[in-house]
Amino acid sequence: MTTTNQSWGGRFNQPTDEFVKIFGASVFFDKILAPYDIAGSIAHATMLCEVGLLTDEEKSQIIDGLNTILADIEADRFEWSIDLEDVHMNIEARLVNMIGNAGKKLHTGRSRNDQVATDIRLYLRNQVDDINNEIKRLQSALLDLAEQEVDTILPGFTHLQAAQPISFGHHMMAYFEMLSRDAERLIDCRKRLNSMPLGSAALAGTTYPINRTRTAELLGFERICNNSLDGVSDRDFAIEFLNAASIIMMHLSRFSEELILWSSAQFDFIELPDSFCTGSSIMPQKKNPDVPELVRGKTGRVYGHLTSLLTIMKSQPLAYNKDNQEDKEPLFDTVNTLKACLRVFADMVPTIETKRNNMYNAAKKGYTTATDLADYLVKKGLPFRDAHEVVGKSVAYGIQKQKDLSELSLKELQAFNADIENDVFDILSLEGSLNARNHLGGTAPNQVKQAINNARKALK
Ligand code: ARG
Repeated sequence: MTTTNQSWGGRFNQPTDEFVKIFGASVFFDKILAPYDIAGSIAHATMLCEVGLLTDEEKSQIIDGLNTILADIEADRFEWSIDLEDVHMNIEARLVNMIGNAGKKLHTGRSRNDQVATDIRLYLRNQVDDINNEIKRLQSALLDLAEQEVDTILPGFTHLQAAQPISFGHHMMAYFEMLSRDAERLIDCRKRLNSMPLGSAALAGTTYPINRTRTAELLGFERICNNSLDGVSDRDFAIEFLNAASIIMMHLSRFSEELILWSSAQFDFIELPDSFCTGSSIMPQKKNPDVPELVRGKTGRVYGHLTSLLTIMKSQPLAYNKDNQEDKEPLFDTVNTLKACLRVFADMVPTIETKRNNMYNAAKKGYTTATDLADYLVKKGLPFRDAHEVVGKSVAYGIQKQKDLSELSLKELQAFNADIENDVFDILSLEGSLNARNHLGGTAPNQVKQAINNARKALK
């Protein structure tokens, strides 16, 4: 006797090739969808009963059976079978084993195509909420660090050349802003993923008098997918999520890069605690910033997953194709990677130790108040281009004398422009330079304090 798959084996005379079974199975990775699959099935059974397609008795048997299965899965007692291909057929087969005929009725008016599309949306909706909470935790850690370091001065860079002095708090708040946009993007993505494909069945809808609005309501979906073909084949929501995730990883990677540079002996702006670093097996002096390096590295695989899914979807004719089974691993790995990276950052940020003197001294080097001198001359009536020229010459002179602009004498400065007076030394100081940038979005410490206050309110 040939044994064929019990879910679709009716028209088959040969069993599936042993390796094709393994090759085609998704249960290894899609079993994490089980709680969502069961929630979807419970809602579906409830609706089927309400429209008269299941008796109350059958509905109760199905729901009780599914709850027992869920408990078994959670307790790791469930036996997953490759022969049953995926999470959906594993659960359904178990239900049929448990309750018999009523279990066989659960699949009325649905297909695995709309079932899997529903499961992924439920899964992702949950994950997006978790991720947004993790983003908030990181943001709140950034706010605390920013608040603590409002008056800490470091050089701000362009082209990685010292440009103008800035507040370390201001620098941290730049990352806060990026993460706010990230959270907005996820909330936006959540709106579109919160649409229910169930009822699309295989591709064309079903002949049964189903009530899709009711199932959607039971599952907390805001709306139903309007078109059955689109419902089963759409993976835009997953691509949008991967895009949002890629941007978050890009932000974390930029932050990582700065933490790595700052903890080098050459910068020496910060110290990461031993608990977030590792040593070298050959060089006893080493303390390596592994955590930010790993986060920077993991950015690559998330970008890869976005490219994977875009490529999986490209050229697929409507509606469902088995290609879609390949959507899961990139999606799940992105979720896990992103959650881990956000978590480790939220834990690490409060442990960052700032080396205020080193930052201050670095800001003193590199003529970071040159723009302030130019602005000073403009206020004295010089056109900006001429002021730029005058300051350029003073900087060249300073480099030759190995002195910062603030270390030149009034006489030396006046050689470049006779209008320079004693008050110039106020603006040539790092503090003076910061305080002068006193407008919304500027680095003046009182502006940064205000920005932090506003951000704290917005985060609540
Ligand atoms: N395991 C499949 C997936 O992940 C479920 C849907 C299968 N549908 C089908 N017609 N073979 O996409």
